Amino acid sequence: MNKVTSQIPSIIAIDGPAASGKSTIGLRLAKTLGYLFFDTGVMYRAITWLALQRGIDIHDEAAVSALAEETQIDVAPASKPDGRACDVLVNGQDITWEVRSRSVDANVSIVAAYGGVRRALSQQQRRVGQRGNIVMVGRDIGTVVLPEADLKIYLDATAEERARRRYDEIIARGGKTDYDGILKRVIERDHIDSTRDMAPLKAAEDAVVLNSDQLNEDQVFERVLALVK
Ligand code: DC
Repeated sequence: MNKVTSQIPSIIAIDGPAASGKSTIGLRLAKTLGYLFFDTGVMYRAITWLALQRGIDIHDEAAVSALAEETQIDVAPASKPDGRACDVLVNGQDITWEVRSRSVDANVSIVAAYGGVRRALSQQQRRVGQRGNIVMVGRDIGTVVLPEADLKIYLDATAEERARRRYDEIIARGGKTDYDGILKRVIERDHIDSTRDMAPLKAAEDAVVLNSDQLNEDQVFERVLALVK
């Protein structure tokens, strides 16, 4: 008699545009499966933060690429219960919250478009991903970093819906913001991320595309879990 075995995918790639819920869903999935969660966007953010910190001109591609090649970025499981999904360390310094600053938000798409930066960071990401038992979140995981991933999901939502979620998040944390400003920045980042020459944001041909406009977090998670199982 044939034994039927169902195998959980070991490398799971979740790609999609800014604020599409990739990190929330990816983290939840990783916790459920006991996998490592790796949000690759934090690496681009870490280089952006460091360049700004050192006064390097963000438009100087050669200088920013050199920085990416020489910088040690570590992404480790969260060491503090302060809402972080993971720790982000640059040359040993904890910059988990610094990488979420507005100045990083405003400049990270420029840095992520540089070929030298992408080569340096993709290589590091690939090494971590190949170890398996991992949920990796980004823009080009299924297309470039790990095209051999066992399951590829492309999480999408309209810019208006994504801006609304960001807005609600900030207000819920007691912050102040304006919806129109958020929407403008989401659209700008989408444009830069999807029109760059190298590894532009797009769904892999063999990715399952999931539009979350009409779904809440639990519903998206249920669908993702169904794909995994
Ligand atoms: O997901 P995020 O907002 O933290 O991503 C920050 C930036 O990095 C964004 O401009 C897209 C870019 N990025 C990328 O180009 N490739 C990845 N694998 C992850 C993020």
